[in-house]
Amino acid sequence: MKIIKTIKEMQTYSREMHASGNRVALVPTMGDLHEGHLSLVDAAHRHADIVVVSIFINPTQFAPEEDFDTYPKNLERDCNLCKLRKVDAIFAPEANEMYPEPITAWVIENSLTEVLCGKSRPTHFTGVTTVVTKLFNAVLPEAAIFGEKDFQQVAVIKKMTKDLNFHIEIITVPIVREADGLAMSSRNKYLTEKEHKEALSINISLKAAEEAILSGERNSAVIIKQITLRISQNDGKVDYVEIMNPETLQPITAIEPDTVIAVAAVFGKTRLIDNLVISSASSGLFV
Ligand code: PAJ
Repeated sequence: MKIIKTIKEMQTYSREMHASGNRVALVPTMGDLHEGHLSLVDAAHRHADIVVVSIFINPTQFAPEEDFDTYPKNLERDCNLCKLRKVDAIFAPEANEMYPEPITAWVIENSLTEVLCGKSRPTHFTGVTTVVTKLFNAVLPEAAIFGEKDFQQVAVIKKMTKDLNFHIEIITVPIVREADGLAMSSRNKYLTEKEHKEALSINISLKAAEEAILSGERNSAVIIKQITLRISQNDGKVDYVEIMNPETLQPITAIEPDTVIAVAAVFGKTRLIDNLVISSASSGLFV
């Protein structure tokens, strides 16, 4: 497995792979890899010949009061995990390779980023779209893999790819959870044992919502109220509970197939996100 530090070396490697007829897939990450990230690697292998994992804690997607300085770092452990999953190359640039000088050209999506996480993190998605563009230009992939845990990120990246004509297939992978149901996240390690238990109320309330829908409930407001109540009763500070179309992110008042319920809540100091897709195909609903 190659470990590549510079954009130039990364582009040369990808061009060589393309010249020998290979399809390259990129899995963008900020490191501290867990099974959620590694499921993206497995998907990448199914869609391409060469799998590149980028590991870069992107400063431009963190607001000044957020956890950029304390974000978990462990490149050696990440490399070992990638090796075991047969990753071909890791692209792990230093900050001054990606941002040698303050940038003044940004990639901005200004519709889907206005809602949900964009409300409480107004600069976040511009950092994401800009760095993902830079990663696309460094790695030159035919496909890029993203997790449905960050489903707003997926919607924004898909729109950016379409609007800016990136010739890159965007592939998404379902949420991977801990055995107890908490969606895996690098930020879960900030939780105390008590907060971790309380945070299970997110997944429990989403599952209860699915049960309610299965029993015929179609009123979004009722479902939102039930989820909010359960999380609040477990000491979670709800940022949002929304029911919407997964592509347009427009709110839906009467639940229909292919709807997503999205939650963001803070436990202690840790902000967690999770979601549940209500699809007629997967759940047997709406038949
Ligand atoms: P990061 O939080 O490291 O996540 C990298 C990828 O792993 C994202 O596509 C995310 O959705 C996916 N992922 C994380 N936890 C997951 C889980 N439990 N199940 C499935 N997929 C999961 O998202 C970012 O980094 C950054 O914003 C990035 C796109 C790399 C740009 O800096």
